[in-house]
Amino acid sequence: MAKIIIEGGKRLSGSITVSGAKNAALPIMAGVILSTGTVELSNVPALNDVNTMDRVLQALGTRVENVGSNVYRFDASGQLNDEAPYELVKSMRASFFVMGPLLARLKRARVPLPGGCAIGVRPVNIHLKGFEALGATVSIEGGCAVAVADKLRGNKILLDFPSVGATENLMMAATLAEGVTQIENSAQEPEIIDLANFLNVIGAKITGAGSPTITIEGVEKLGGGRYRVMPDRIEAGTFAIMGAMTGGNVKVENCDPGHLHALINKLREMGVELSHDENSISVNAPSRLKAVEIKTLPFPGFATDLQAQLMAAMCVANGTSSITETIFENRFMHVSELARMGASIAIHDRTAVIHGVESLKGAPVSATDLRAGAAMVLAGLVAEGRTEVSQVFHIDRGYEDLVGRVRKLGACIERVDDPETED
Ligand code: UD1
Repeated sequence: MAKIIIEGGKRLSGSITVSGAKNAALPIMAGVILSTGTVELSNVPALNDVNTMDRVLQALGTRVENVGSNVYRFDASGQLNDEAPYELVKSMRASFFVMGPLLARLKRARVPLPGGCAIGVRPVNIHLKGFEALGATVSIEGGCAVAVADKLRGNKILLDFPSVGATENLMMAATLAEGVTQIENSAQEPEIIDLANFLNVIGAKITGAGSPTITIEGVEKLGGGRYRVMPDRIEAGTFAIMGAMTGGNVKVENCDPGHLHALINKLREMGVELSHDENSISVNAPSRLKAVEIKTLPFPGFATDLQAQLMAAMCVANGTSSITETIFENRFMHVSELARMGASIAIHDRTAVIHGVESLKGAPVSATDLRAGAAMVLAGLVAEGRTEVSQVFHIDRGYEDLVGRVRKLGACIERVDDPETED
């Protein structure tokens, strides 16, 4: 079983480069199903989740070729299957993104319900309601969401909540619908803009992505094209927090600081000297951060995907911090792991109150989910002594060679892969 082993206490310095965004690459890859041409995507991160989406697309009849470092070529012009395989969907919720494109292209789709995960129940009711609004008949059969339609027709869809995944799935389904679709109360995350930009490159007519109302004028078909996936704002944010909490001097390169306003403001409030240009952020941190309060919200609010990492920083800040998690109902799994390292955290309903301690102590801990895993690595970097993070497969879902890149900043960190046992 792979483990990450860290000897904490090093002040990090130097530059670290951000990879392509997982949460943009996955829906864009699903969007390839809409295309009857050849699509080439670059800046696709080398992650387990990308490999899973690659396998889902192949199972549906798309040809996928890895043609260079972080570059993939796709051809979905042939005969496609309308049924996504359970084994793959079960292992990655984002596989559900193929539902909208399959429905648009084939007028039918059968995709296993992804089920909950460590951080919450995560239903897909908003996706399904939207497909119905576009004219599909939706049912649940044998654990699968099944949608069929003679024809999809553009409509006004008001989302009950600005769900990122539902906005993406419905935007993709509407590209080939007859007439105009308006998605109101849509999510405004940068990944939505990236998906819309990609779809427009291959011939879609989408305006308003990044605002609460997205308008999609249906077209007859979508062709091929080339697209470069945006940089990963969550990875960039993780690295900025890492520099800040280690008292470091770190430049995070190849990111878009415009995607990270909420975090940048909070880090400044914590006492970090932070400057940025168009595509990098430089962090110059004091020896101890100040406590702050945050609430996770849909974009442009503070990202739930950076909550666990900032909590790790709060654990050693001076004073009492708080985090209110409003997006997911069970996203505090990392609290008990941080407590094993000496953190002082109390949970009241959806709010965690973190009393900063002078130092954390190294311990064996688990990565309970992807971002919680990143938080444990951050905690290990500032802890006294040795921290061993297990269940590293969660971290591999979202960070490409995390250990190698962090080591270059001066961290004492290594990965130990034991081929005898599996995660
Ligand atoms: C995406 C991101 C994930 C991030 C999340 C919120 C990807 C692959 N994943 O997940 O990293 O943490 O956005 O920024 O892009 N909900 C419903 N019904 C639905 C859909 C969602 O009740 O049909 C609820 C969810 O349970 C959750 C909330 O809405 O409580 C937000 O979910 P959503 O925005 O859909 O997140 P994902 O797209 O799953």
